[in-house]
Amino acid sequence: MNSFDTIFQSNFKRGAFPFYSHLRNTDPVFAAWENGGHTTWIVSGYEDVLELLKTQSFIKDQSKVFSDSGRSNDLPLETRVFQHMMLDVDPPDHTRLRKLVQPYFNPKRIQELSPRIEVIADQLIDEMKAQEGSVDLIDEFAFPLPIIVISELLGVPSEDREKFRRWSNTIVSASDNMNTGFQEEMKEFINYLTLLFAEKKKSPKEDLISNMILHEEEGEQLTEDELYSMIVLLIIAGHETTVNLIGNGIYALFEHPDQLEKLRMDHSLIETAIEESLRFYSPVDFSTARWSDDDIDFKGKRIKRGDVVLASISSANRDERKFDCADTFDVTRKPNQHMAFGYGIHFCLGAPLARLEGKIAFEKLLSAFPSMSMTGKHDESNWRDMFLLRGLKDLYVELNG
Ligand code: HEM
Repeated sequence: MNSFDTIFQSNFKRGAFPFYSHLRNTDPVFAAWENGGHTTWIVSGYEDVLELLKTQSFIKDQSKVFSDSGRSNDLPLETRVFQHMMLDVDPPDHTRLRKLVQPYFNPKRIQELSPRIEVIADQLIDEMKAQEGSVDLIDEFAFPLPIIVISELLGVPSEDREKFRRWSNTIVSASDNMNTGFQEEMKEFINYLTLLFAEKKKSPKEDLISNMILHEEEGEQLTEDELYSMIVLLIIAGHETTVNLIGNGIYALFEHPDQLEKLRMDHSLIETAIEESLRFYSPVDFSTARWSDDDIDFKGKRIKRGDVVLASISSANRDERKFDCADTFDVTRKPNQHMAFGYGIHFCLGAPLARLEGKIAFEKLLSAFPSMSMTGKHDESNWRDMFLLRGLKDLYVELNG
């Protein structure tokens, strides 16, 4: 069983679920570690996580707690970019920023992308068919599909996806944002965006970045820093999450052959299977940080000013008080009120897009390769070594196995 001493070490993901269950039953608001006199708390039960994500007693903007947190225009843009993301600010800034991009992600508009997403999925499947031997489903399908979609939506060249993959990987894997490698990569990312924005200003198109630039130029709705922050956030969110929904979901099906068979026989179960994949192997393991700007009593614990509180989304989604047979993977599960997309005002903006991509991915893969099977050694050491997210390093399959 894991302890939080091992949380940053390799393969924490492997023993995470028994550990979460232990936490829920013994210490549901758990003082995980101390840093500079401040405690980081992990909240693990479903109802408590719901309350944490709903309440505005805890805040996102740490500059309101620490006057020396370095929110200053003197800092380089590659640092400032992390201070203006909608995910890290509170109302009214959060409300204004979210309102600007919300129209691009509403369910009706996302549904209109369906034919294009199907074409992209078909192309990737044709490319896989042309390969010999086993194929890495992550590299060849689960990764490129959401990337091409988000690149087209934003208006960034999808040929540059390997660069974005590197940059977003650096960001989500960073335990210390100040290390030099991180700063260098961020500088490169920002320089790339600066050139891209200049090009869009010269010849705007019908894409999200061109429209955001118009808002920035009007100067009332979006500052230049916020423009950079918004695009960095959308690129990271688009690169690091849906790939894990597709990869983790297909992996869970291989792990549970009876459920895979059920789905193969009846594709109308794909929607519930997607929801169950989101619950069972939640792509976002922990919420982002919430800060306490006062001494607050939360569920019997004294959370001091400056402490950090994290919601364990994966743990909440396996809470046996909320879900019958919570550790059972059931593609027919209904209702399934998981919290894989968070809750409250920061509820995932991209949820309709992620769900649609997941649905198309499952449908296309099951139709094109009805006897696909997993190859190679697959134990749980295959999880990538990341704290916040849960995703596989690779997933080798025999397409007609
Ligand atoms: C399966 C895929 C995805 C999962 C599981 C997921 C999960 C989440 C979660 C849990 C949060 C809330 C974090 C918190 O409150 O600390 C969140 C927020 C967010 N997500 Fe996603 N996400 C996914 C896909 C996407 C996509 C495709 C996009 C868009 C490109 C996106 C954009 C965002 C944004 C912008 C926020 C911040 C919203 C706000 O602060 O109001 N996500 N996501």
